[in-house]
Amino acid sequence: MGILPINCKVFMNKVTTSAPGKLLLFGDHAVVYGHPCIVTSIDQRIQVTVEKQKERKLTLSAPDLGLVEYTKHIDELGQKNIPKAVSFIETLYSLFLQRCPQEGGIVIETKSAFSSSFGFGSSSAVTVAFAQALSELYGCQLSKLEVFQLCYQAVITVQGVGSGFDIASAIWGKTIYYVTPAKVVEPIVLPELPLIVGYSGIKADTATIVRAVAELRMKKPEFVAEIFSEIENITNRARTALLAADWQTVGSLMNENQVCLEKLDVSSKKLNDLIVAARNAGAYGAKLSGAGGGDCMIALGEKKEQIDSAIGKAGGESMNVRAHADGVRVDFKE
Ligand code: PMV
Repeated sequence: MGILPINCKVFMNKVTTSAPGKLLLFGDHAVVYGHPCIVTSIDQRIQVTVEKQKERKLTLSAPDLGLVEYTKHIDELGQKNIPKAVSFIETLYSLFLQRCPQEGGIVIETKSAFSSSFGFGSSSAVTVAFAQALSELYGCQLSKLEVFQLCYQAVITVQGVGSGFDIASAIWGKTIYYVTPAKVVEPIVLPELPLIVGYSGIKADTATIVRAVAELRMKKPEFVAEIFSEIENITNRARTALLAADWQTVGSLMNENQVCLEKLDVSSKKLNDLIVAARNAGAYGAKLSGAGGGDCMIALGEKKEQIDSAIGKAGGESMNVRAHADGVRVDFKE
């Protein structure tokens, strides 16, 4: 996928943007291999403020990540030991400057409404918010697709794997049907989405689980191909059911998707406990969201209080999250 040329003009002095976290509704793992997924943005956001500075350096403060005035000379971006928390920002800035060289440097401050442990996609949200902020600061007027290309390249450089569904969600927002790498980004128009979210209390390592699925795929290619095509089928049926706001069907498709994920061996006892508890409390359906192993499960249902309480009793933490939120936006500029 080629990167489009970027023409930048000096524009603003200070810009604040924000981008949402996400939850994967359907298509987890299969999306890495070219199958579709459905992802929704959540109303928990990461805010990024950027300001120009004369000196050719990057200065980053991310209090939520315990970083205070981390500084790097522009000529050394991407070199030396980069703390994990900084790697997405530093890589993105370096890629941005290759395409749109600037004279001075930049001061960045990030503020997150959610912990990076939840699996809400803090890395993609911060990367997207930062890319949008740079576009505004330097008057680049990047299109959504250009922001995607820049961010996806940064994520692949840092992580090596990933479908980019989380980046697309942070950019386009709401609920989208997605095929990697933004080959298809189709909004699913919904009146609302009665989603309930339970945190397992365990931080999952997405890259490790994605690699485990890749290994399983090497060992048992036909078995995994069959599961992926079943997931694709479920995802396509879910798109139709979502568009019809047919929650009962969406819920039972979530249950079917969970069966596939269990066959891939990416769920966990804790996630299964929370999923079963949510279903028993009246949810239309429930599944893990994302790579699995930990992070969050999601349930669809209207009996929020009962389901939240059942998740709590099963040892999870119900999260106060609203789905179908807006994508990246400019909050402030001067
Ligand atoms: O664990 P999360 O929330 O980052 O989701 C990972 C989803 C996968 O499909 C497993 C990987 C990907 O990049 O699509």
